[in-house]
Parts: sequence; structure tokens; C-alpha cells
Amino acid sequence: MKIFLDTANLKQIKEAASWGIVDGVTTNPTLLSKEDQKFEELIKKICRVISGPVNVECVSTKSKDIIEEGRELAKLADNIVLKIPICVEGLKAIKVLSGEGIQVNTTLIFSPTQALLAAKAGARYVSPFIGRLDDISHEGMDLVDKIIAIFSNYGLETEVIVASIRHPLHVVDAALVGADIATIPFVVLDKMVKHPLTDIGMEQFLKDWSKVKR
Ligand code: E4P
Repeated sequence: MKIFLDTANLKQIKEAASWGIVDGVTTNPTLLSKEDQKFEELIKKICRVISGPVNVECVSTKSKDIIEEGRELAKLADNIVLKIPICVEGLKAIKVLSGEGIQVNTTLIFSPTQALLAAKAGARYVSPFIGRLDDISHEGMDLVDKIIAIFSNYGLETEVIVASIRHPLHVVDAALVGADIATIPFVVLDKMVKHPLTDIGMEQFLKDWSKVKR
């Protein structure tokens, strides 16, 4: 499973990239609003650190405007992927932009039908938001499971990005259902490395090493 980092924070992106496990980055307007840097400059900096896909969201609402905005955003770097929210205007824009060879990640996916339509329109990725579904007592991972089954039934090559991840178990479940990608906040990634028994074991080994005759 590929790992994307779900943040626009350059420090976190550089740190996680240094661990050697980051395949891409997802941003959104909310994540960008937390950063004290000009949007385009920040995106260009992220694209210099991460060679894989860097996802940037279109905020226009009419297909014509989404297309124009998307073309401009795609010029920022070679590895830009456009995030376009699922809606009728979004589908029209996905068809045109994908046809021009620009990669699109259809975002805010909450149903299998939305994912199917995005794939049919030519989206390279779909992003089901599982944490937000769990928040309202729906099984977010069931949606991921269904999307994977549908894509597999018809040989659709659109990749599934499990988004809105809240904790390491979401990542485990994403991997168990065979998701292509999980996009993970830094705080969750950090928790994925740690285990209290590892800490206890390391402490004991270091203590015992000091007693070894050398
Ligand atoms: C994914 O691309 C989104 O940026 C993100 O996962 C949304 O997560 P949230 O529900 O925590 O805002």
C-alpha cells in the first residue's frame, strides 16, 4: 500500500520524507489555511521535497472555472494531482482535464456510486473519507471495500485513496481490504511506528549492553 501524507505542513512533510516511506501528499483548503505561507509558493516547495503525487484542491464550482483553475494549478509542478470534489460540475471537469492528461483525485467521496461515476469520467484516484463516515456512525471502511470490489469487477484502473484517517487501526483496515493508498496525518504516522513493548525492549537491551564484557 502506498502512503501519502495528509498535510500541508512543510516541516512534517520533510520529516516524514526522511523516513523513506512517503509516496505522495494530499492537501486541502483546511490544511492549507493552517500554514503561514503563500499558497503557490508552499505547493512548489512541497513538490520539490516529494517526487510523487502532490494533491491540490480546485475550489471553483462551475465546470468551466474548475477546468481553468485546474490547468493553472497543474502548471505549478509536474507532479501536481488536482483534487476535484464529486458533483455534476466536477464530473464534467474531470472528463476534460483527464482527457488532457492531467491527473485528478475525486474527493469528498461518500458513496460507491460517486466513486463509480468519478472513475467512469476518467479520475486517476478517488478519495473515500472514512473518518467522517465513522463520525456519523457509518462504517467508513465498508465503503472502501465496496469501491474496491466494483473497480475490480470492471477492471477500472482508478486507485482508491483511503482518506480522513483518524488512527492507526484505520490504516491497518485499509491495508487489509487492499486499498491502493492511505493518506495519513503526521500524528497518526508517528503513532504507527511506536509500541510500548519496543520502548521497554530497547531500554532493557541498552541496560544489558552496558554489562557486556567488551
Ligand atoms: C484527504 O485528501 C483529505 O485531505 C483528508 O483526509 C480529510 O480528512 P478530515 O476528515 O480529517 O478533514
